[in-house]
Amino acid sequence: MKKSIIRLSSLSHKYVIALAGMFLMLFLCFHLMTNLLMLVGDGGESFDKAVEFLSSNPLIKAMEYVLFAGFAIHIILGVIIWFHNQKARPVGYQVGLRTETSMFSKFMFHTGVIILVFLIIHLTNFFFVKLGLVPVPDYARDAHDFYSMAVVKFKNPWYSGIYLVSFVFLGFHLKHAFQSAFQSLGLNHDKYTPAIKVIGTIYAIVISLGFASIPVYFLFIHP
Ligand code: HEM
Repeated sequence: MKKSIIRLSSLSHKYVIALAGMFLMLFLCFHLMTNLLMLVGDGGESFDKAVEFLSSNPLIKAMEYVLFAGFAIHIILGVIIWFHNQKARPVGYQVGLRTETSMFSKFMFHTGVIILVFLIIHLTNFFFVKLGLVPVPDYARDAHDFYSMAVVKFKNPWYSGIYLVSFVFLGFHLKHAFQSAFQSLGLNHDKYTPAIKVIGTIYAIVISLGFASIPVYFLFIHP
């Protein structure tokens, strides 16, 4: 009885972590599309307009709470499942069963921690300025002038370097996360799973290269 309760709760953990993860993957698509406006070469005009629209939209503001709840749920359950799996893993397991899936899934916790560290740096430099938790840099017009903040920060090779390395790990995390979310929700099928894997790989590459293009642009192309 106790065993089945544990199994049920770890199953529902997987369900919830997958739903939160899918929501975060969707957020990344929107976030990338907004941020790519920085690259259109109009001195940040289109990007500023998009930021203004998003910041004044009450629905988007409400979504920020949902987003942070999504991150919190995903991280907390990720940590719980990882520790649970560590304890449950039989001795000698790694030697016999080193499949491609187990290699990728094995590092989900580690890549997740790297993304979390990245996120803390990232929010400190942009989002927390907007919230008034971090002072507005003297070169920025106001707390919403993210374009000027991006120009100055990404001109620093160390800062851009941290972003680029983080995006490599983000890509690894997403590659496995995509197919894993479908599997956890029971949406895997002999016929469709290979296609889901391919789409997941394309998604991971597009997201990580898309985000990477921003620091690369400011570092090497932007005057
Ligand atoms: C070069 C890549 C990126 C740039 C230039 C960028 C830029 C920004 C900016 C300007 C904001 C503040 C927007 C606002 O509050 O109105 C922001 C917020 C945020 N970013 Fe990013 N971002 C990048 C990559 C990422 C990645 C990869 C993640 C997740 C792994 C992420 C997660 C977030 C979150 C959670 C917020 C706070 C919620 C929000 O304001 O939408 N960002 N980012």
